[in-house]
Amino acid sequence: MIVVHVLMVSVSSSFSECFSAKSYISGNVLTDQLNLHLLPFERLDKITNENLCQMYLPNKVVVAQIHYDDISFPRPGEDEVSFLYKFNQEIIVTFQLSHADYEHIFDKNITMYELWYDVNLVKVNNSVNTIEHTKYNGTNCFQKLEMEYTIYEDIDIKVLPNNCNVKINANIQVYIEFQEGQVNNQIPIYPCVSSCDPSEFQLSLTNFSQIRTYRVKKTPATASHLSSFYSNFVENRRIQISLNLKFDTNGIYTVISNTFNNIQHKDNFACKSLDSHLGIYALLNPNVVSVQYRDSLVNKLVCNISAKYVKVDLYMFDNVTSVNRKQTSKILDFDNSIGIEFQKDSQFTLLRENFQPSVTKTTVVVSYLSETLEIMWEILIYSDPVYIGCVERATLHLYENHNCLEYILDKHDQCVVQRMTAQQKNVLGIYYKSKGIQKSLGMYRFHYAVDYSISKHEVCFVCEEYQPGVTYAKPSCEENQKLTKQLIKTEEIGFGIVSACEFIIFNTAVTEYKSIYVPVILSSSLICVLVIITIITFVQKL
Ligand SMILES: *[C@@H]1O[C@H](CO)[C@@H](O)[C@H](O)[C@H]1NC(C)=O
Ligand SMILES: *[C@@H]1O[C@H](CO)[C@@H](O)[C@H](O)[C@H]1NC(C)=O
Ligand SMILES: *[C@@H]1O[C@H](CO)[C@@H](O)[C@H](O)[C@H]1NC(C)=O
Ligand SMILES: *[C@@H]1O[C@H](CO)[C@@H](O)[C@H](O)[C@H]1NC(C)=O
Ligand SMILES: *[C@@H]1O[C@H](CO)[C@@H](O)[C@H](O)[C@H]1NC(C)=O
Ligand SMILES: *[C@@H]1O[C@H](CO)[C@@H](O)[C@H](O)[C@H]1NC(C)=O
Repeated sequence: MIVVHVLMVSVSSSFSECFSAKSYISGNVLTDQLNLHLLPFERLDKITNENLCQMYLPNKVVVAQIHYDDISFPRPGEDEVSFLYKFNQEIIVTFQLSHADYEHIFDKNITMYELWYDVNLVKVNNSVNTIEHTKYNGTNCFQKLEMEYTIYEDIDIKVLPNNCNVKINANIQVYIEFQEGQVNNQIPIYPCVSSCDPSEFQLSLTNFSQIRTYRVKKTPATASHLSSFYSNFVENRRIQISLNLKFDTNGIYTVISNTFNNIQHKDNFACKSLDSHLGIYALLNPNVVSVQYRDSLVNKLVCNISAKYVKVDLYMFDNVTSVNRKQTSKILDFDNSIGIEFQKDSQFTLLRENFQPSVTKTTVVVSYLSETLEIMWEILIYSDPVYIGCVERATLHLYENHNCLEYILDKHDQCVVQRMTAQQKNVLGIYYKSKGIQKSLGMYRFHYAVDYSISKHEVCFVCEEYQPGVTYAKPSCEENQKLTKQLIKTEEIGFGIVSACEFIIFNTAVTEYKSIYVPVILSSSLICVLVIITIITFVQKL
């Protein structure tokens, strides 16, 4: 008995030292949750004598309570809140409050937490060092929040603020928070002190609604934060990134936290401003996943970047499935292709089957890399819609005076083509591919409606329907039709039922040379390129 008693005494005096006096509470205004962050005691490793935190407690159950002056959580009668002790680690204990209880404690600046160590029935009380309440989105402080970065360097944040109750003074803390593995890390944003824009974050500008820019400049104070941010961001473009403003009212911190609406690399090679054809769209086709890069017959940009490689990082996800594929190619191969293809696999198939226009999204990053694989510039689309392409198989029939394309549509009620007007549907393109380079053999506009509710179709393209004003392999329709017949014996031929098509790239089109009655089977790559931008714009308005 005496031994037990002695142990209890030493346990009780040592237990308070398992956690730091800096342990704090962070509340989530959106979910009415309080998180008690139990930080490990700073000098745990210095406790050499009977280190109970290390010897007895690991993986033992600890029961936790939070006490305010007039109320405790969990409330009497509610389930107890407990956790398993882990030595020398931050432990986050969550308390779910009712909305009314949350409002009641919202402005209380003193809180105790009580831990009950089951091993020896020891209870320990400690005060909470700081209390903060985070308002995610809820406060609508920003209508728009955009990040523009220069890779490995400065970050500019452009905002459209609402009139919001945020006090700008020397005590405000502004920072970018980003995910780093299981934890969050921060990049501090300091007020501008010299050569500031009039609307830039600076202490003389006390009206929050007038601040339009926040800047992270690369300085000795921010360099290591920036470096860990970029290494995480380059690895995973879907990490959570938010702008946070934290200020103190009567000893309670309020954090205004908002995720970015848009993240872009600075257009420092003028690639975006010079290139009217740039536009990234991702398509889930029956047989392949394709990313449309430019609405033209090559990926090559107008701007001048002396890159050696291009890396395409594709993310496609819904609320259940998430896919990430990366592909690096030599710049010449990339420049001469139309779009980018990824092999379809079971996960993409799942995304296609469960496709929902507002849930299935894509993030695509195209990075231009130097000889040493350093990123020089990149363009990204961030959680954009995914489109469903539906042409599954196509057969080309060549006749004396015209060519016809027979194609089978895959049954999917969200095919992008289903969402077009009749007029938009009726353009057909034909291409060939030689040594990786795509060339157009003609675009044709039909004067009759193609019925996309039927799965098997044949459309014939004749020179009366030829679309001028596009650069083709040969100048005239007749010459292009003739070339088609020659090429079909040796080259891969692809089709775009552009129809605003199914701007599809797919590999399984089968071509058949009918006029000589000897079928020549070739695999081909179907690409619908032209006019896509206007069509996508149209679809997005739906
Ligand atoms: C801890 O503090 C709370 C609130 O002040 C009190 O109700 C409780 O009895 C204390 N527990 C111990 C073990 O002192
Ligand atoms: C905040 O809003 C953005 C879009 O406006 C949304 O994607 C995000 O999920 C919201 N965050 C929370 C915590 O509700
Ligand atoms: C802050 O600026 C906004 C926009 O310019 C203005 O509407 C508002 O009245 C200003 N508030 C104060 C307290 O000056
Ligand atoms: C706690 O809040 C009260 C008002 O609610 C205030 O008088 C007091 O100074 C605050 N305490 C601290 C430590 O800020
Ligand atoms: C492209 O950039 C390189 C170096 O960045 C420069 O040497 C070259 O002259 C530029 N070419 C054009 C056409 O501007
Ligand atoms: C995903 O979203 C759909 C529709 O919004 C919903 O029916 C489904 O339950 C969600 N699945 C999960 C795991 O949240």
